[in-house]
Amino acid sequence: MSSGSDLAYLEADVLKEIAEAVDLAALDAVRVSAIGKKGRISELMAQLGKLPPDERKTFGATVNALKTKVSDAIETRKATLEAAALSERLASEREDVTLPVRLGAEMQGRIHPVSQVLDECIEIFADLGFEVAEGPDIETDDLNFTKLNIPAEHPARQEHDTFYFNPKADGSRLLLRTHTSPVQIRTMQTKTPPIRIVAPGRVYRCDSDQTHTPMFHQIEGLVIDEKTHMGHLKWVLEEFAKAFFEVDTVTMRFRASHFPFTEPSMEVDIDASAIGKPGQWLEILGCGMVHPNVLANCGLDPERYQGFAFGMGLDRITMLKYGLPDLRAFFSADLRWLRHYGFSLLDQPTLGGGLSS
Ligand code: PHE
Repeated sequence: MSSGSDLAYLEADVLKEIAEAVDLAALDAVRVSAIGKKGRISELMAQLGKLPPDERKTFGATVNALKTKVSDAIETRKATLEAAALSERLASEREDVTLPVRLGAEMQGRIHPVSQVLDECIEIFADLGFEVAEGPDIETDDLNFTKLNIPAEHPARQEHDTFYFNPKADGSRLLLRTHTSPVQIRTMQTKTPPIRIVAPGRVYRCDSDQTHTPMFHQIEGLVIDEKTHMGHLKWVLEEFAKAFFEVDTVTMRFRASHFPFTEPSMEVDIDASAIGKPGQWLEILGCGMVHPNVLANCGLDPERYQGFAFGMGLDRITMLKYGLPDLRAFFSADLRWLRHYGFSLLDQPTLGGGLSS
């Protein structure tokens, strides 16, 4: 039979074990050995039956009190150990989110300057309220020429050095679009004014030298509503040029020109001081007021609607802005060139954050 002092020893012993349990597993082992089914304290209860009835009650109450005390101590220790385990985990799994991005293999890739400039242009025109429209590289003769007021036998067809596909049975021919202007037609055929789009993309002409490649890029602009006039065209182009070349003023020169799909037509030069080369004019685009025949060809009433269009060489403005001398290098897939002139994935052009920085 356990005496009072035995119980006191047992209590001291178990509480010491609890205090010394170094982790949750050790603590659980203590719990099992003390108050588990066959634990030391639980076994005391089994002795209850051997006691004279008058002692049973006090002994039972004492053992129960001990059991409660031990299980409370275990709970308290458990909470302490859990908190310690959590803070240890928090400390070991800590991430410093202010560290710079680790340069992995994916960071060695480079954004092609033309892609970067395309993103810059879209950012600028989106800010001016333009949507992006697209059309296919393989076009019909009708959309690339006829609907743009360039009928068969028109001399402008020869100027375009077109890549044609073999004629189909009905005599019609597909071609690689020679400009992004067919997207004007596609847009006017499917949307009702007001229309405000830019259409970037690849275009093709059978031509090659230091500043011409058989494939190059343009961005087309089209604005149609009831009152749009040349003043708006001039403003849009000036705002674009200032934002694109990241300067406060750009001097532009509008030269009378001719395109079958605009009337009047102009070519636009910028004063090269904008890119740090004063004393030179550099041509960057063609533009004009959309020809009434083109509006009519798309089912728009030229008495009611009017607007402007422009077409700009993306590769050309890329060469000007970033000082790249040879257009052919753009498409020669030379990794050294791309590493030198390309942009980092993280250099997203935004108006808020600076286009090129
Ligand atoms: N499509 C013309 C070209 O490729 C450019 C242009 C577009 C001119 C729109 C006027 C209006 O040269």
